[in-house]
Parts: sequence; C-alpha cells; structure tokens
Amino acid sequence: MRRPFVAGNWKMNLDLPAARDLAAGLVAGVPSDCAADVAICPPSIYLFPMAKAVDGSPVRLGSQNCWHEASGAFTGELSPDMVKETGCTYVILGHSERRNTIGPTDDSGRIWGESNQMIAAKARAVIDRGLTAIVCVGELLEQRDANQTEAVLSEQLSGSLATLSAADCDRLVIAYEPVWAIGTGRVATPEQAQAAHAHIRSRLAAQFDPARADEIRIQYGGSVKPGNAAELMACPDVDGALVGGASLKADDFLKIIEAAAASAA
Ligand code: 13P
Repeated sequence: MRRPFVAGNWKMNLDLPAARDLAAGLVAGVPSDCAADVAICPPSIYLFPMAKAVDGSPVRLGSQNCWHEASGAFTGELSPDMVKETGCTYVILGHSERRNTIGPTDDSGRIWGESNQMIAAKARAVIDRGLTAIVCVGELLEQRDANQTEAVLSEQLSGSLATLSAADCDRLVIAYEPVWAIGTGRVATPEQAQAAHAHIRSRLAAQFDPARADEIRIQYGGSVKPGNAAELMACPDVDGALVGGASLKADDFLKIIEAAAASAA
C-alpha cells in the first residue's frame, strides 16, 4: 500500500511573513495522524526559517532544486549536504520549469535547459546523502498532440534515473506533471493521469523490478485544486500531488491534503 504524498511547490512566490503565515496555517491544520505525507518546498532562502516553523509537526521540508557536486566553484548553487542541513527530507529535481522554461538567455531559448543526464547526476547525489528525490517528468502540449506522451515519459525516466538501481527506489518519488497543465487551470482528466501514471509504473518495473515499482509513489502535478483533487487521487496509480498555485493558500492546500488522506482509506 503506497502512502499518499502531497507536496507544495511554492516556486518563487511569497515574502517571508507570508511564508511564515502559510506554514503556521499548515502546522495548525495537518493532523498528527494524517494518512498522507505532506511537504512544503519553499524558495531555498526560506528553508531555515520554514524548518523552524514546521518543527514538531508532520509537515516535512523539500528543496526545489540542488546541484550534484559536494562543494566547489559553483556560484549560486546549493550542494545536497547544504540542503540536508536545513532539515530537508525531499529535493524536487527536473521540474519542467528547469527543463523547458523559455527565456531570452541562449540559442535554444531555454533558460536552464536541464538535461536528463544532469537530473540523473543530481538524483544520484541527493539519494547518496539520504535525501528523497522527487523526479519530475511530463510532456509538452505538442508532444501530447503528436501522440508522443509515452515515448517522452519513457525517455525522461530512463535518462533521469540512469544512475539509480533498485536499492534506491525507497528514496525516489516521481512527479508526473504534463507541462500543458502547469499553471494553466487545464488539469489532466483522471483518465489521462491514470494512463500516464500506469505507463510510468510499467517503465519503473522494467528499469528496476516490478515489486520495487509498485512501492514508488507517483504524484500528479498540474492545476491540482481542492475541486479536482479527490477524483485524481481516486486513480489507482495516482499517489498524491505536487501542487503549485493551490499550495500558496493554506485552506486550499489543506483540502488537497484531506483528499489525499481520504484516498488512503
Ligand atoms: P500548478 O499547480 O500551479 O499548476 O503548478 C504545478 C507545478 O508545477 C508543481 O510543481
């Protein structure tokens, strides 16, 4: 039985007082016997104060990214050990905004252009430090329209998890985030989500082993709201959610957590 897992990806939002208020609202609202695991992933500059804010509660902390090297001349980056020192349990890796976000900075037009190879190096490094990697995968709208969803997911999984073995699976979470559903209000239907999640699980079974694949939690992400969370969580291979916008309001995020916890019953 996979325990549902809901994580809030705050992205680059909130000032510090608002972050403290939000954390306090979650600490007050998440019951100590919650049937779902819960995490918040604030901007990294807020990790230490948020660790203090959620201390003693069931709410865990995640980082939105990190670099794979242990130390060195990597201006602006954080090592897995630095992330761990803040009290983080999780690290989001390979978010589509780091893979694909379009900007004016290079010939490809992609700002960070993170590759599967880079994500695989990061996944290895964070798991080696005892952190849990939340590895994000998901297709662009044009890829879905061209019937390439499964091929894209397969390629992202085999590339981004290339450094891992079956023994690493208990420190691995996958987030399926169709890029066309992120921040758009256009959520995947339960059927679309279930089909993608089942495909992801079959690829994990092939890459590791079926018993391990059965234990890996696969979150859905992309316009998850209180009004659609329950039907998504009811899908057999949807094991929780990675939530952006709706994780910035305590009431909305708590309702999504409740839906996840109810799906465990
Ligand atoms: P939204 O929930 O705002 O669509 O964002 C999803 C996401 O990118 C979470 O990582």
